Amino acid sequence: MDINSAEFLISNTTFKKCPQNEKAEFAFIGRSNVGKSSLINMITGKKKLAKTSSTPGKTQLINHFIVNDEWYLVDLPGYGYAKASKKSRKVWEHFISEYLLHREFLLTTFVLIDSRLEPQAIDLEFMNWCGSKGIPFSIIFTKTDKLSSSALQKKLSFYKKEMLKYWEELPPVFISSSQSKLGRESILNYLQEILNSFSESRS
Ligand code: GTP
Ligand code: MG
Repeated sequence: MDINSAEFLISNTTFKKCPQNEKAEFAFIGRSNVGKSSLINMITGKKKLAKTSSTPGKTQLINHFIVNDEWYLVDLPGYGYAKASKKSRKVWEHFISEYLLHREFLLTTFVLIDSRLEPQAIDLEFMNWCGSKGIPFSIIFTKTDKLSSSALQKKLSFYKKEMLKYWEELPPVFISSSQSKLGRESILNYLQEILNSFSESRS
């Protein structure tokens, strides 16, 4: 799929104010600093589209970007930010779960996972929660440029094994690097497939 245009549209603190025009949407979620905003920039080919930072906790709102005038990519705040207070975690949980549960045209949520880390309870719990609520998701392993290919393969197979303790089958899994652009084609092809079935289902 070609990206012809990608523009920032709106930031919100509540799903209720998010755009209401029946366009397909894809969200990016995961731990703070995992690379959600960078991945949106890599996929759209616009380095400064979503704000990134080496300090965790940069993205604080629900950010809609419109792509090809046709569908949305949504950048969300991260979870598991060590310095966040209990109260702000509760606020996060509420507004993100409301968003994920109520966006009718949210076709898939990409859960981003740092490929360097061992499986983290917070990610596994989040994916289990998505499963229990019937929220379709896929996994994208990020920052793979920081690992050798053999180390990456080891991490991936360990992760998959861990997930199969909870799941009968794995969701779609992608590997990415916002630095080398690894994963861009596969992710875009996957988005195209989902968009095709979405438009077929509506015609
Ligand atoms: P929050 O908005 O704070 O939740 O973070 P985020 O998940 O949006 O992460 P962001 O894209 O802001 O990236 C965090 C840091 O990781 C930045 O310093 C990025 O440059 C770096 N980073 C992101 N993706 C990659 C990658 O694929 N490779 C490398 N080497 N660094 C990356
Ligand atoms: Mg961000």
